[in-house]
Amino acid sequence: MAGLLERDREIATVEAALTQAHSGAGQCLIIEGPAGIGKTALLEVVKTMAEDEGVRALTASGGELEVDFPFGVVRQLFAPFLTEMAGQSPLLEGPASMARPVLLMADGADLSRPAGEGGLFESLYGLYWLTLNLAQSGPLLLTIDDGHWCDGASLRYLIYLQRRLAGMPIAVVLATRPGEPSANVRLVDQLRVQAKSLHLERLSVSAVGAMLRGAFSEARTRSSPPPPIRPRVAIHSLCASWPPLCLTGSCGRPAMQPLRCR
Ligand SMILES: Nc1ncnc2c1ncn2[C@@H]1O[C@H](COP(=O)(O)OP(=O)(O)OP(=O)(O)O)[C@@H](O)[C@H]1O
Ligand SMILES: [Mg+2]
Repeated sequence: MAGLLERDREIATVEAALTQAHSGAGQCLIIEGPAGIGKTALLEVVKTMAEDEGVRALTASGGELEVDFPFGVVRQLFAPFLTEMAGQSPLLEGPASMARPVLLMADGADLSRPAGEGGLFESLYGLYWLTLNLAQSGPLLLTIDDGHWCDGASLRYLIYLQRRLAGMPIAVVLATRPGEPSANVRLVDQLRVQAKSLHLERLSVSAVGAMLRGAFSEARTRSSPPPPIRPRVAIHSLCASWPPLCLTGSCGRPAMQPLRCR
């Protein structure tokens, strides 16, 4: 599916989780693996699958330089509704109104208040109700990429939501690199306790061969003739820019393989 090699098992797992969520058994799934293993690529497939089924997908991504911005990821998730919510939107009626300061950064909201204070709880409660309100009109998928760079307040929202997913048509899928130094690693761990984890394994040699053949044949068919390819250099640079090609050693240090170029 979607050109992904050797991910049939993972796609089937995600598909099952989405189907369950669709029928009201909310799910939280964590896709894990090192840099370049294919987490973002799989998230794209998840999103496409969900949208094909008529599920509304809200997406966000943690950012290395945004990890200290409270609720940054939450605001990305709900960004498509911000204009609507700035007015008298039913989405923010009732308890959901407590999410207003976080989303609209209004009313002197102090987003920097540490966890444990009443303000944070009110925000989480309001965001939870906003999520419920959105799910009233149909099943919902929340995808969060680069969870290792997700800000702490947004992770707390995900944890709060996860504990209340039973009976809700909501799927949460978060992709993260385990072992990545992050201030919020314990929050990701907490999320992991009740989530299904999906560990992405390295691709096989034959899959990597197929990817290389595809890359070389694409280079050959470009309109302007490419410079002559020196196989070892080309493979090395592909490894650097395309980490799933690193089959041995750590992904940070691509290992040279005795691959032959046809
Ligand atoms: N199974 C696969 N089949 C084909 N291409 C793949 C596969 N997995 C990954 N790729 C390709 O490898 C590249 C790196 O994948 P991707 O960006 O999804 O990695 P990642 O795990 O999200 O990395 P990071 O942790 O750095 O964000 C992309 O070009 C992606 O399309
Ligand atoms: Mg990625």
